[in-house]
Amino acid sequence: MIPHFTEARQRERVPTEISASAEGACVRLADEIATLIRANDAAGRPTVFGLATGSTPVPLYRQLIRLHRDQGLSFRHVITFNLDEYHGLPRTHPESYWCFMHEQLFNHVDVPPAHINIPDGMVPRDQVYEWCRTYEEKIKAAGGLDLQILGIGRTGHIGFNEPGSGSDSRTRLVTLDALTRRDAARDFLGEANVPRHAITMGVGTILEARRIVLLAWGEAKAGALAGAVENPPTEALPASFLQTHPDTVFYVDAAAAGELTRLRHPWLVGPVAWSRPMTRLAVVWLSQQARKPILKLLDEDYSEHSLADLLTEQGPAYGLNIRIFNELQHTITGWPGGKPNADDTNRPERATPESKRIVVFSPEPSNDVLGMGGTLRRLVSQGHQVTVAYMTSGNLGVPDEEAAMAAELVLEFDLSAGGAGSPGAVFAREVRQQLQGKTAYAADSTEVRKLKAIIRRNEARASLQACGVDTARVRFLELSFYEKGRYRRFKPTPDDVSRIVTLLEEIQPHQIFGTGQIAEPSSVPALCFSLLRQALDACQTSPWRKDCHVWLYREPDRMWEPAEIAMAVPLSPRELTQKIQAIYQHKSQRSQSPMLAQGLHELWQQAEHHNQAIAKLYDALGLAEYEAIEAFQPMVSIQG
Ligand code: GLP
Repeated sequence: MIPHFTEARQRERVPTEISASAEGACVRLADEIATLIRANDAAGRPTVFGLATGSTPVPLYRQLIRLHRDQGLSFRHVITFNLDEYHGLPRTHPESYWCFMHEQLFNHVDVPPAHINIPDGMVPRDQVYEWCRTYEEKIKAAGGLDLQILGIGRTGHIGFNEPGSGSDSRTRLVTLDALTRRDAARDFLGEANVPRHAITMGVGTILEARRIVLLAWGEAKAGALAGAVENPPTEALPASFLQTHPDTVFYVDAAAAGELTRLRHPWLVGPVAWSRPMTRLAVVWLSQQARKPILKLLDEDYSEHSLADLLTEQGPAYGLNIRIFNELQHTITGWPGGKPNADDTNRPERATPESKRIVVFSPEPSNDVLGMGGTLRRLVSQGHQVTVAYMTSGNLGVPDEEAAMAAELVLEFDLSAGGAGSPGAVFAREVRQQLQGKTAYAADSTEVRKLKAIIRRNEARASLQACGVDTARVRFLELSFYEKGRYRRFKPTPDDVSRIVTLLEEIQPHQIFGTGQIAEPSSVPALCFSLLRQALDACQTSPWRKDCHVWLYREPDRMWEPAEIAMAVPLSPRELTQKIQAIYQHKSQRSQSPMLAQGLHELWQQAEHHNQAIAKLYDALGLAEYEAIEAFQPMVSIQG
């Protein structure tokens, strides 16, 4: 499926290995690390690692812990230097990289504490320069870094070297980019709590490592990764400087590799097998390149754009154009649950049964309306029985101010109703006290999380009402991995799977909508997707299962390729407005800052742009011109 021939890598300026999963890549890398440690141990040398934080290296650390536990791999002669740390955070802060590294790795292996080096977030500003110089000297004194592990930020940063960082930059204090701060907002329970500065090794410091391995998982990284691999080195994307290093490799999963030419436009880099999806991908691309609708493409357009062999195999253009045009045309339907009494040979969804039992799985409240608010409304109005199942409460995403306000409402209501001190008021007073006594960045108590869950539940109901969904059918699964966990530390359990199985067996759906397949593996949507898949596997022999179609919707942050779209549901201008109104009900999810940083948008804006962009794409291909489109793909076709 993924081309590995040399030509396919022509445009790649750094060796890039694409793995089916993050887990697989990390097993290999952990073995490489173990070999390095053992070789150095045998030679009586220490092994010096540059280590990274974030979700990305977590599966690697899990593998290293496994090797330590099961194969006796010792870290006694390992010396580590971490890339970075937030400035202003003490070690004890749960989001400090110091804490992170200890929780994720150091507490579980035998690396001596004296061998662990992590930038100190509490160095006073006037001493930072000196401190950073000393950190660099320490790396040199240890013999330099044998291996540097890196993740990549959506801005293309490595460590905290944001765009603008030079290739010769050294360890220093930096200001964090707006997008980086937004990405960290969840960990810090709100953007306002995210530090503005950090200490990071410089790009130049990183480039001095003898070997560098950059890891990237999930579709959110695809844009930055493709830039780092295929564009010339530039300060605008600091990870691209890794191309200048003699021994660097990128280990990525297929979702993060999604924008590389060898996956997106493979005919530009070598011969391809012209399967149906590949043909569709190429014709759509050609129409965009030639700026012509599909039905106007000429034989010359194909041959001038590296598609001569497609023409030889499937041409002439006239027939090929019509075939692909029809395929795309057939993805468009105003009947996402199937059109009753219609010939469904060429429709994305079957006509019978006329009224379907449908379950829409939403990892957190709001994923559903963001991804498919317009389709939800259609499914309901077309007579299907729609159950929306919120897999987690989403309470970790509610700012304290919202919870405080809700507690005050209850207390004031109680007072106006006589002030008898109802159980609700006792609870609200407790929450108020806990919030007032909460130290900066402390985790929420059970009571506060309960109130925050109630807030999100009510927003979800209001949002579904705006889509016309019967709120009596809504389910809040409150999967325990989320309710008991915190971001980046979630641990799904078999109980999570069985809750989903119970719901599925009860409803026996004809259609399921889910999301998260290509999200970053430790994110809530990805964990929820994996649980849904396990639940579906567990139901494999249930009679309803073989007649059940599973559709996937996606977060609005990455554009679909038309070749990926198997069902395109058009929205009229009015339906788009209704969808935005539905998203708008998730009030606690709006930006907490009245001034959005440049280039960052509210959720409803992202969804609006996204759905309009898909419609524009269809229009430019010569298909009907709609206001907006919601897109779906079937789960099976991606797996198979
Ligand atoms: C932070 C870290 C980087 C990391 C990046 C990506 O900014 N300083 O070292 O690579 O986040 O994080 P994640 O792996 O969670 O996507």
